[in-house]
Order: sequence, then structure tokens, then C-alpha cells
Amino acid sequence: MTWNLDTILARTGTEPDPETGALAPPIHTATTYARNADGQSGEFVYSRLGNPTRKRLEQALAESEGGAGAVALSSGMTAAMTVCQSLSPGDHVLLPHDIYFGVRTLLMDHFTRWGLRVSDVDQRDLEAVAKAITPETRLVWTETPSNPQLNITDIQAMADIAHQAGAALVVDNTWATPLITRPIELGADIVLHSVTKYLGGHSDVLGGALVFARQDSWYEHAVNLAGEGGAVLDPFGSWLVLRGMRSLGPRLRQQSAAALEIARWLESHARIESVNYPGLHSHPGHSVAAEQMTLFGGMLSFCVKGSADEALEVVRRSQLFANATSLGGTESLMEHRALIEGPDTPTPQNLLRVSVGLEYVDDLKVDLDQALTA
Ligand SMILES: Cc1ncc(COP(=O)(O)O)c(C=O)c1O
Repeated sequence: MTWNLDTILARTGTEPDPETGALAPPIHTATTYARNADGQSGEFVYSRLGNPTRKRLEQALAESEGGAGAVALSSGMTAAMTVCQSLSPGDHVLLPHDIYFGVRTLLMDHFTRWGLRVSDVDQRDLEAVAKAITPETRLVWTETPSNPQLNITDIQAMADIAHQAGAALVVDNTWATPLITRPIELGADIVLHSVTKYLGGHSDVLGGALVFARQDSWYEHAVNLAGEGGAVLDPFGSWLVLRGMRSLGPRLRQQSAAALEIARWLESHARIESVNYPGLHSHPGHSVAAEQMTLFGGMLSFCVKGSADEALEVVRRSQLFANATSLGGTESLMEHRALIEGPDTPTPQNLLRVSVGLEYVDDLKVDLDQALTA
């Protein structure tokens, strides 16, 4: 039988434990496993190379994304680093213009010192993307919706451009999650996650993951780098993410509905200059989003009329939106991105990024209204 993704997610990792029948997965903390009298190991040898709790998570991640295999890592940035470490000096990576600034810094500042060539382009302009490809391009990197401006990139078009050039497409699906977008079905070769966000879902676990369309050389590199480099997700972290994934459906449905309501309401607010949310008809990427997203997600950003300080004042006045980084938890967050991204950021100075939590949506609107008008 093939089940709906909601059904698969609700049962994530709950296959009965073979020893006890437990329906909640055990947390296997053992670092080493006994060999038999002939010195032969069973499936597990040493926890860096393989761990039963992590294996459950990797299977769940691959299943939810429709992939052939997955690797669970110690953070989203470790996942990004692992993909880069699979490349060779001289290889070119094409980034989107608007992207999580940590990934941009990792590639532009650190991996260029290791010989990678990195450039960026506005991926909403497909002709510009095709022109930005070089004979050395091995990887096209897409993040949709993008952080923090919520640009929408056409995944299928990017896969076509990448594949025609002999490159692979990696899609950072952290903001959408497999509940909303399934990049592998649209042609992506690798899906990247910061499981710290919606999959973990409670702001209490740091982790990352790579899911692969095929068990190809990208997959082999990642498995070997994780096992030999050791940047794997720990058993308790793996267990927390498995637990978070079981409630992803209801959480993200409520967060998406609330984000849409807030975005529509903000659009006509006198203090607001612009709202970035792909569910709005005014969003330039709305039609592509409607094609490749089943919901529009729990993230939005908006520009307040006025200066950086006037925008920051909204954050200071809010009582329900915590002024903190990260996203995807049950609590709403609001952050002035340019401040933390530094002086070279392309992010507008009056932009605030919001992660909508699970609070009652009218309370969130009342709080935003008083923060904007007080
Ligand atoms: C889209 C995206 N990708 C990757 C990351 C990095 O993930 P982590 O913080 O788990 O290393 C983040 C973190 O905010 C993110 O928003």
C-alpha cells in the first residue's frame, strides 16, 4: 500500500522495537557493538559509522522526501559543508542571490580558500541562471522560499538547467519541508535540511540532513564523510527529530494558515511598505509557488515604512514574537535580519523576518498591531 505523507509522518520511526515491541523508538547510546567469536561484526560496529536511532531517522527522512538514502548530520551547516567537501578544487557552485547568509558565508569565505569557485545569481531570472553556468559548474544551489526575502525559485527549471550543464541540483528544503515541497520529484539530486527548524519543530535540537535522489557518488561521499569525518547527529538528537516529524503535518498546516492570514492583514496595514509571502497574489513568485508548494509555509518577512531603527522598534515593542534567530518552533519569532547579517548584507534595513508559531492567530495580529502602531 502507498500511504499519504501525513500518515507516513504521523508514524515516523514508530516501527515496533524488535526486542521489546516499544512503539516509541529506543535511544541507542552505545558507542560500540560486540563482535561474534570469529571477530565478525553485525550491522552496527561503532556509533560514528552507524547507529540504530540515527538509522531510523535517516530512513524516515529518505521516505518523507521520496529519496533513495539520507545522512543525518550535526547541523544544517554541516549538511552544507558535507556537500561542498564532496567537490574538488576548481569546481564551480552557483548560489541564489537571496540565501541563508550562513551558507553564503560558508561557501564564499571559507570554501573559496579551499579552491571552490562560487558565484551567485538571481534565480528568478532563468536566462541569467543559464548564462551564469560555467564549464566548471558542478552544483546549482537553490533555496526556496529563500531566507529572508522569500523569493520563489522554479525547482524543475533549475533542475533542467543544471542537468543540461552536467551539474547537480541541491535544494535547501528547510523552509518548505517535504510536507509542502518535494524537490526530488521536481528533479533535484540532493535535498538539504536544517532539521533544527520545522522537522525538529520545538527549538530544542540542532541537526541537519542530506537526502539523495539516488545512491550515487554524492550519496557515497556523504556517507563516507559522515562516518570518517564524524559530523553525525547524536542519538538523542536523532530521537528528538523523529519525535518532531510525527507532528509536522498539524504544526505546519496551522502555521501556514496563520502566516497567510497575517500576511494578508499586514498587506493593508498603514505602517507596512511591503510583505514577502508566496501565498499572496501580489508575490511575484505566487504562480510558481502554487505549482510546487501544497501550502505556503510559516515564514514571512515584511518591510516597515521608515528606518532600520523604526523597524527594530517594532521588534522591541512586540510581546508575543520573541526577538531571536532561528525558525520553525512552536513559539513565534521576529528578527531584524540586516543587523545580524552584517554591513555587506543585501537584506533591506527595514526588513523584519517572522517565524509564525502555534499561538492563537488573533493574538498574534493584536500584538503585531500594537507593536506597529504604539
Ligand atoms: C534555509 C536554512 N538553511 C540552513 C540553515 C543552517 O542550519 P543550522 O542552523 O541547523 O546549521 C538555516 C539556519 O537558519 C536555514 O535557515
